Amino acid sequence: MRKIKIQGDPKLQLRGKVKIGGAKNAVLPAIAASLLTKEKIKLRNVPLVTDVFTILTLTQELGAEYNLKKNSVTIQAKNIRSEEASYKLVRAMRASILVLGPLLARQGKAVVALPGGCAIGSRPIDLHIHGLEKLGASINLEHGYIKAEAKCLQGTEIEFEKKSVGATENLLMAASLSQGETVLKNCSLEPEVSCLCKLLVKMGAKIEGIGGETIHIKGVKELGGATHAIIPDRIEAGTFLVAAALTQGDVILTHTQPDHLSNFIERLRFSGAKIDKLNNYTLRVIGSYDIRPQDITTFSYPGFPTDLQAPFTVLMTQANGTSIITETIFDRRFSHVNELLRLGANIEVIVDKAIVKGQTHLSGAETIATDLRAAASLVLAGLIAKGETIINEAEHLDRGYERIEEKLRSLGANIQTLEE
Ligand code: UD1
Repeated sequence: MRKIKIQGDPKLQLRGKVKIGGAKNAVLPAIAASLLTKEKIKLRNVPLVTDVFTILTLTQELGAEYNLKKNSVTIQAKNIRSEEASYKLVRAMRASILVLGPLLARQGKAVVALPGGCAIGSRPIDLHIHGLEKLGASINLEHGYIKAEAKCLQGTEIEFEKKSVGATENLLMAASLSQGETVLKNCSLEPEVSCLCKLLVKMGAKIEGIGGETIHIKGVKELGGATHAIIPDRIEAGTFLVAAALTQGDVILTHTQPDHLSNFIERLRFSGAKIDKLNNYTLRVIGSYDIRPQDITTFSYPGFPTDLQAPFTVLMTQANGTSIITETIFDRRFSHVNELLRLGANIEVIVDKAIVKGQTHLSGAETIATDLRAAASLVLAGLIAKGETIINEAEHLDRGYERIEEKLRSLGANIQTLEE
């Protein structure tokens, strides 16, 4: 169990430059896509986070070989040895479900453990399953596993009942290696989906409508090798933007993609932060002493990202008034609130809304991280809470943030690991 200690300071001002890594949510489907071909897939700008190690271990168990050097990885799945993604790995990371489409398309068979419940709500997988069934797969749920089979996937029209990033990605991968044409409607618009599409095109897939709600895919018999750079992580960037705004800091974010964060940046500006785009990949944020309350509602892209809801809530605890945070993507995604209350925040959760009354003076306390973004919000709160904050089960942070303590220390934070 990892424990983090933060010596908080209400007067802390983060200052300096921080390099944003590659997007966790873009690299996971890219690694899953490597199972679609016998040839090498080389990925650059890979964040070294636990979720990446988990999916690499999974592809290795399935028969792939990989070579990870600094922030690049080469994966080659010459032969698939097994079509089964075990419960152990799927439980560790729900996104393991992304191997379902590629395995089924390449091997005609896939057995993937059902992800089950997780800390941020029920998170069903019906959209993945219905989509693959429409492509001709027969799917059974037995003994906690999804068992999928298809002699040959056949292109068709699939309209997702609701937007799902993972289902869009699974279907894109499966349809790329199928017979005939598939039209996917109501696709997720997240930049990570487009990043996957661009990799698939480099591998030889025939995809039109990238970045839109309707995507056309002409299936091919075989896909080949490719080299691809992973887009910057907009959630990591957003977390550092909040950190700077929260501490009235002055921070430059490099290797980022500001246009992927337009909605979020607009909200931060309304709350008082000054944010300048220095060039296409660099942002400067200067926090304000006068933080204004904001009502926000999470939506799928390009709306306010649910993954930044918890960090933004922390900022609103320092606003000079009341904010209403509405979560529409996941149920039960307010587990961070109870921990923030322990630090002195004034937040009331009513069904899908958190009513945050600011400004509250936070004081350090022992806390427990319940999921990745909840962990990030506790780090942020700990920075400005008076005295010492301990975060237990801090390994959640490592699932999505590479060297976060080191990066925050370089900006002036007093944060360290107590126990590995
Ligand atoms: C991805 C991101 C996650 C982010 C989420 C929403 C990755 C690895 N993870 O998760 O960080 O928080 O998008 O932006 O990219 N749903 C169904 N049936 C399904 C699938 C989803 O009802 O078959 C529902 C979910 O419960 C949720 C909503 O659709 O309410 C959106 O989920 P989805 O976009 O699928 O999230 P993930 O791909 O799991």
